[in-house]
Amino acid sequence: MPRFVVFGAAGMLGHALMDELAARSLLATGLDRRACDVTDADACLAVLAQLRPAVAINCAAFTDVNGAETQREAAMAVNGAGAGNVARACEKIGSRCLFVSTDYVFDGAKAEPYLETDIVNPLNVYGGSKLEGERQTLAGCANSLVVRTSWLYGPYGRNFVQTILQRAESGQPLGIVEDQTGAPTYTRDLARVLCDVAVSKLTGVVHATNRGACSWYQFAKSALDLAGLSSVQLSPVKTSDYPTPALRPANSRLTDTRLGTAGIPAMPTWEDGLRRYLLETGRIS
Ligand SMILES: NC(=O)c1ccc[n+]([C@@H]2O[C@H](COP(=O)([O-])OP(=O)(O)OC[C@H]3O[C@@H](n4cnc5c(N)ncnc54)[C@H](OP(=O)(O)O)[C@@H]3O)[C@@H](O)[C@H]2O)c1
Repeated sequence: MPRFVVFGAAGMLGHALMDELAARSLLATGLDRRACDVTDADACLAVLAQLRPAVAINCAAFTDVNGAETQREAAMAVNGAGAGNVARACEKIGSRCLFVSTDYVFDGAKAEPYLETDIVNPLNVYGGSKLEGERQTLAGCANSLVVRTSWLYGPYGRNFVQTILQRAESGQPLGIVEDQTGAPTYTRDLARVLCDVAVSKLTGVVHATNRGACSWYQFAKSALDLAGLSSVQLSPVKTSDYPTPALRPANSRLTDTRLGTAGIPAMPTWEDGLRRYLLETGRIS
């Protein structure tokens, strides 16, 4: 039976991916940062040479988008060079390598959803470091695939939905950005696609998000409505009124045309993902 190795297995996505691999009865080893720090090239090669997986899936990342603006080297070390370490180790032992990337490689200026082939132009350090990781993955391992996704949330770790619901429950009025559009993506749905593409012949870059799109404001409103918290004061705000250290793309929408062409089942809508997340976390019944 083919073995899978997941780097960053203790993170929000890595954890959901380990669940999905287990649900499919696939043999998988999850590595957290203590088990393998991806910035250590020797450690990456040693662990992969020992485990000899058919596929390594790299979910390890420096994900503090605002923090990356002042910690460029740390972000680059994990997201850029670290991705290269994993990919080159995969190449050496003959494994397939998957790297999870982000909508933040785009500048958001396009009016339509982004294709896999569209020109990249990250607005922030995090996006630049993930783009470097994409390049190092594709250059380092011939049998590699970059999977770009967006706006993740799921049962492990803190996420936007949880924060919104907690603030609403504490009676705080909420001002949420309405001029950034993207596809909120449930980690359980992305984990399924990662398992599907892991055993496919796809190489290069694919986009994988829940279907449809909304603003952060619409996402928050849907979560509050579903959770029975519609009476909370919720106002749409402009990004320019709430500046953050890292700029974010106004348009984060990604098309998943390559997945469809490859026969990978389409992902559910973001509304469906949100409902299942609220069910799973006991927010609705
Ligand atoms: N969250 C989103 O909205 C989003 C959107 C698009 C794409 N993505 C991408 O999706 C992937 C998964 O993100 P996530 O949301 O699951 O992030 P996460 O919860 O922050 O998980 C990332 C994991 O990587 C680990 N890690 C950090 N530095 C490491 C290192 N040097 N060596 C090994 N492991 C290391 C972290 O461990 P520690 O906790 O010990 O630091 C953490 O467990 C990432 O590639 C991210 O760029 C995320």
